[in-house]
Amino acid sequence: MGPPRGGCNRTRTGASAAESPEIRFGRDHTWLDGADKKVNSESHTGGSGEISVAKRVLVLNGPNLNMLGKREPEIYGRDTLDDIRAACAAFCEAQGWALDFRQSNAEGELVTWIQEARGAVDALVINAAAYTHTSVAIHDALHLLDCPIVEVHLSNIHRREPFRHHSYISSVASGVIVGFGAKGYLLALAALEAG
Ligand code: DQA
Repeated sequence: MGPPRGGCNRTRTGASAAESPEIRFGRDHTWLDGADKKVNSESHTGGSGEISVAKRVLVLNGPNLNMLGKREPEIYGRDTLDDIRAACAAFCEAQGWALDFRQSNAEGELVTWIQEARGAVDALVINAAAYTHTSVAIHDALHLLDCPIVEVHLSNIHRREPFRHHSYISSVASGVIVGFGAKGYLLALAALEAG
């Protein structure tokens, strides 16, 4: 896996992320620098509040993942999506990475977010949930990216119903992590850190 593209090595010249107010990055991206801090987008445009962000990671979650914790816990576990978000944020904070963590039940919204990620992120982690098995549109959108893409599933989709065995994401992904529950997201981030 080659180095992530995009000018992401930035210099710290001003206010820290903790001092920075929330500012939108790009059209619609809010970057979380760690669990509860927002990265000042001025830093990405050479403004006075410049900080160091080693990697910009987008984590996308598909339909029904907002119901984690309540939804078939014997399959998906008891962690909520907010628990997973917090764990990812803590990991990214330790790495000095900026995290954008999102969920949508709408296929088109996921496609739009992937399109907007082109040239704006250094890595993508995606659990497309049920759209994994159906969405040519998400498959095509992922082809627009040239950063590493890690596909994650909480459950081992290959041990489940046959309709879950095919993924439209895998052929576009750099790697796939299935069956490790919520830890799979951290394994994906660890793979990006190693790679
Ligand atoms: C899932 C597996 C999919 O088959 C399912 O539709 C999901 C979650 C997983 O994380 O195990 O919603 O992506």
